[in-house]
Amino acid sequence: MTTGAADAARAVLAPQTRAARFLVLTVRPGGEAAVRELLPDLAGLRRSVGLRADRARLSCVTGLGSELWDRLFDGPRPAGLHPFQELRGPRHTAPATPGDLLFHLRAERPDACFELAGQLLGRLAGAADVVDETVGFEYFERRDLTGFVDGTENPEGAAAERAALIGAEDPRFAGGSYAVVQKYRHLLPEWEALTTEQQERAIGRTKLADIELVGKEQPADSHVSLTSLDPDADGRAQEILRHNMPYGSYLDGDIGTYFIGYCRTPAITEEMLRNMFLGRGEAPHDRLLDFTTATTGGLFFVPPADLLDDPPPPTAERPRPRTDWSLGIGSLKRPHETRPDEGDPTR
Ligand code: HEM
Repeated sequence: MTTGAADAARAVLAPQTRAARFLVLTVRPGGEAAVRELLPDLAGLRRSVGLRADRARLSCVTGLGSELWDRLFDGPRPAGLHPFQELRGPRHTAPATPGDLLFHLRAERPDACFELAGQLLGRLAGAADVVDETVGFEYFERRDLTGFVDGTENPEGAAAERAALIGAEDPRFAGGSYAVVQKYRHLLPEWEALTTEQQERAIGRTKLADIELVGKEQPADSHVSLTSLDPDADGRAQEILRHNMPYGSYLDGDIGTYFIGYCRTPAITEEMLRNMFLGRGEAPHDRLLDFTTATTGGLFFVPPADLLDDPPPPTAERPRPRTDWSLGIGSLKRPHETRPDEGDPTR
């Protein structure tokens, strides 16, 4: 892995922080140049803000949506990149919502995330629009707002790298990743009306001690059951790396969990989502979904830093069919010398 690729990987793999800010933007037609110019400056902007925020451990992951990739770059595209696919189950829907660019900012201090967001958005003024901004915060004992500890079964160390980072299967994009994001609004009064035991069966773990339910205690429709996948045909673990954060506002009651899952292929995250929303075996859907509603959905490719530093050729520079008069067509005539019977050479 090059140094650049290692930098991007560090941001994806960085441990959970106290503060986060998730920004999803759409890029206006004609805004592509501003995005292309920003990409090589991302690392420097993060360093500038990070150095001023002492020990903030500021990190920035940038994700590019499928359509934006084609508007920005020519040539080969990341093998797994496609738009987020809506899932419509009998009871619950995972919507696909607009989004070309994702910034996942994390730090020990919210001011560092706020400042970096301002710097990034300043560079994109007039070129892109923020369609979702979610401010995440660490909640007691790394619990989410259902009261359960979130992140326990995340892969660690080398297993986290194997789960989250693209490897030799797509060498041009090795060291990159795919991020799936969804904002979930919790129905807290309904959730809190359940007994603790009912909540534990919905999640699949105990609430206070955060221990996984085992054997017959573990329901088929629990969140843990439906997001645990068997190893693939080659015996490789099918895991994702989650950096979910609680968010919330008492003003409009939008309180919930911002889900962000990194994976070397979107197929694994998508299988978990299908299990949750469309069910698996005897489980009609994830019981947790009866108490939380997905309000956004997006899929992004996270380029390795060396690709950000030295992006592929812009789409606009794609060689076009020759429309000018040059030596290439074997004539020295200029357009005004064209006789009417020779027609229009630009057609
Ligand atoms: C409202 C949204 C969500 C909440 C509140 C939530 C919460 C939790 C909690 C409390 C756990 C158990 C502790 C842990 O291992 O982290 C868990 C596990 C897990 N969740 Fe979620 N989650 C949400 C959405 C999702 C989504 C959308 C996915 C995948 C697409 C997902 C994938 C997983 C996985 C893979 C595990 C570990 C399962 C295991 O191997 O034990 N979660 N989640």
